[in-house]
Amino acid sequence: MELYDYIGGETTIRKIVNAFYPKVLAHPLLAPIFPEDIEPVIDKQFQFLTQFFGGPSLYTDQHGNPMMRARHAPFPITRDHADAWLACMQSALEEVVPSNEVRAIIIDRLKGPAYFFVNTER
Ligand code: HEM
Repeated sequence: MELYDYIGGETTIRKIVNAFYPKVLAHPLLAPIFPEDIEPVIDKQFQFLTQFFGGPSLYTDQHGNPMMRARHAPFPITRDHADAWLACMQSALEEVVPSNEVRAIIIDRLKGPAYFFVNTER
C-alpha cells in the first residue's frame, strides 16, 4: 500500500491543510511572510502533499517541477521558521489525525524538507 493510502489519502490531506494554515496565520513568526489570501496556498499545499506522500502528481501537473527549495528562496527562512512551521503542522495533525503512528510518519517526512528550506541565519 502507498503511504498516501495508509495515511488516509485525499480526505486526510485536505483536513491537514485546512487545519494547518489558520495556525500559520496565527503564528507571530510565520504570519508576516504568508499572504493574507491563503486559499491559493492551501490548494497548492494540498496538491503538493498529495504527490509528496505518493498520491497522484497534482502539483506537478499544474505547476511543473516542484523545486521546493527554489520556490522558498524569495522568503527569509531561519531555523526558527522551520521549527515554527513544524510546530504548526504537529498541532494540526493532533487535531485531525487520530493515529499517533501516522502523525509521527508525517512529521518525520516533513522535517527533512523543512530544515532544507532554511536559507538564512536571521
Ligand atoms: C520551513 C518552513 C517553511 C516556511 C517558512 C514556508 C513558507 C512558505 C511561503 C512564505 C510560501 C509562499 C506563499 C505565497 O506567497 O504564495 C510557501 C509556499 C509553499 N510551501 Fe512552504 N514553507 C515552509 C516549509 C514548507 C514545507 C516543509 C513544505 C512541504 C514539504 C512546504 C510546501 C510549500 C508549498 C507546496 C508551497 C506553494 C508553492 C507554490 O507557490 O507553488 N513549505 N511556503
